[in-house]
Amino acid sequence: MSNILITGGGGYVGSLLTPYLIQKGHKVTVLDLFIYGEDVLQKNNNLKVVKGDIRNEDLISKITKNQDIVIHLACISNDPSFELNPNLGKSINLDAFRPLVEQSVSNNVKKFIYASSSSVYGIKKERDVNELMSLEPLTDYSKYKADCEKILLDYQSDKFIVTILRPATVCGYAPRQRLDVVVNILTNLAYHNREIKIFGGSQLRPNIHINDMVKSYEVIINAEDNKIDGQIFNVGYDNKSVKEIAKIVKSELGDDIKFLTEKTNDNRSYHISSHKIQNTLGFSPDFNINDAAKDLKIAFDEKKLKNPLNNEFYFNIKRMQSINLK
Ligand SMILES: NC(=O)c1ccc[n+]([C@@H]2O[C@H](COP(=O)([O-])OP(=O)(O)OC[C@H]3O[C@@H](n4cnc5c(N)ncnc54)[C@H](O)[C@@H]3O)[C@@H](O)[C@H]2O)c1
Repeated sequence: MSNILITGGGGYVGSLLTPYLIQKGHKVTVLDLFIYGEDVLQKNNNLKVVKGDIRNEDLISKITKNQDIVIHLACISNDPSFELNPNLGKSINLDAFRPLVEQSVSNNVKKFIYASSSSVYGIKKERDVNELMSLEPLTDYSKYKADCEKILLDYQSDKFIVTILRPATVCGYAPRQRLDVVVNILTNLAYHNREIKIFGGSQLRPNIHINDMVKSYEVIINAEDNKIDGQIFNVGYDNKSVKEIAKIVKSELGDDIKFLTEKTNDNRSYHISSHKIQNTLGFSPDFNINDAAKDLKIAFDEKKLKNPLNNEFYFNIKRMQSINLK
């Protein structure tokens, strides 16, 4: 069992990944600013929580000591929220990255797993975009993801195993909920307004259920070094157009739901292949978009989420605007 540092462990993915890895017997340290709330992780003897900033190099040099694995999730996620304050985004998503990697190397971390994004591919006409295809990132968020991938690969060695995941858009319920990602947006609107506004509609988006996202990190943790070292893996299934996603949501939430179509200037459209992670590591998903919509419906029914249409904690842009982080 390993000592694992998760940066951003209080975020959407981290809030499920952290208890999952503890339950598997690991000792987890979470470093997070807890921008989206502090009560997302339950106390546990095998969990250490540090509220802090990944840009604090002194903290990073201390917190990477005695860690076997670093999973780097902390980020100003979501393309539009990145445009709020370009300097802030750059300082967190790019500038803080090299010091984190260097301190991990100095402190003998054995494995570093980086959450990149499948948005690094930009708009692609080809179907089944694989890890060898060119990157055409369209936004600063995606460009910095691509830059960090390159930085990380420079530090790869026998003693420092590096792996990059390029996840699709994550969907489903988690203790720290995001309702600003496509499946979750549409499910929230369908449940509460009985009407889904579809922006564009024909853009293709790959999706991954949050439980599968979490499982994919475990698969990397347990993999033999020679299968993952210096490797990049897409992690995304359910390549669907936004319109198709809306139809799936409707099928889970009720026939009465109406569709309204509007224009969009967010034309990111890509169809990714996740054959590599399946063929190399035997990873395949257990859940799909229907499950994500169902899980969210249950969370809404059980009133687990407070004021889901407007609560800034579920919407990265709104929250970032309101806290004015420097
Ligand atoms: N959710 C998705 O659909 C998706 C898709 C592809 C890639 N990813 C990547 O996966 C990772 C996790 O995504 P998520 O959806 O959980 O994001 P999230 O926004 O929910 O979580 C990010 C966490 O990082 C923390 N954070 C931000 N800046 C920090 C700083 N300077 N210091 C310390 N903590 C800081 C936030 O408080 C938050 O808890 C991100 O790197 C994201 O880019 C996510």
